[in-house]
Amino acid sequence: MPKSLISIRDFSKEEILHIMEVAREMEANKSQKLLDGKVVACLFFEPSTRTRLSFETAANRLGARVIGFSDVTNTSISKGETLKDTIKMVSNYVDIIVMRHPLEGAARYASEVCDLPVVNAGDGANQHPSQTLLDLYTILQTQGRLENVTINMVGDLKYGRTVHSLLQAMSHFNPNFIFTAPDALRMPEEYKSFLDNRSIPYIETGSLQEHLGDCDILYMTRVQQERFSDPMEYEKYKDVYRLDASMLGGVRENMKILHPLPRVGEIAADVDDTPYAYYFKQAENGMYVRMAIIAYLLGYK
Ligand code: CP
Repeated sequence: MPKSLISIRDFSKEEILHIMEVAREMEANKSQKLLDGKVVACLFFEPSTRTRLSFETAANRLGARVIGFSDVTNTSISKGETLKDTIKMVSNYVDIIVMRHPLEGAARYASEVCDLPVVNAGDGANQHPSQTLLDLYTILQTQGRLENVTINMVGDLKYGRTVHSLLQAMSHFNPNFIFTAPDALRMPEEYKSFLDNRSIPYIETGSLQEHLGDCDILYMTRVQQERFSDPMEYEKYKDVYRLDASMLGGVRENMKILHPLPRVGEIAADVDDTPYAYYFKQAENGMYVRMAIIAYLLGYK
């Protein structure tokens, strides 16, 4: 079975560091025709702006062509075709599949029913490993290291797949964590057990202001409206945190604010003009990291 990227745990520490190195090469040379003649499928069963467009741009910059869909209503899935049949069909046409799906485990299943590398571009509240690699790249770029970084994860730590993947990836690098969330959206027990088993320290708080001065990375997240079964519950939590520029007085000089985006109300626009805002550059980094992921999985890097 070819190498896929379904969970960040599919990549060893050495592979993660290799992707960092290749992404740096891609950033230095943004068009490399390594994949002339290859075809990349981008199958998005859920909405996306950054992930889909940066994967597609990455493929184009590597000289590959792209097919796919971003709306299942225009596909035979709307007639009842199964995920298995869809993946088997597409795998006849392309060299690698990038997919986002609302069901946890869908990308793993896809990798089991076809003979191509599959990249999980997000499966429900589970994993978003290419986001994690771009987060790591951005942490390395802003801090000059991955070791001994303190990350304050803020917001929806229950449903936010980006924080789950990032926590696991950072476990290779002696991190410290601060988890800032309301009680109902705290980091799930399975991820805290993961840290406990590795003696990785974390604290939990409900107050955003309390630990703003104690971190190198402030990782803001959106409350994941699409994961709430009760709309009233979402209404209760959607505005739980709002970071604005006036709150950044006592932060560390090296501190950078990351966010997987899209943001809704959790970072005010006045933060964009501070030296701490790094989320737009983080999104740009996604293109270089996704170039590195595609090239690596297809055996070109
Ligand atoms: N960060 C991220 O996954 O953004 P999109 O949902 O726009 O792809």
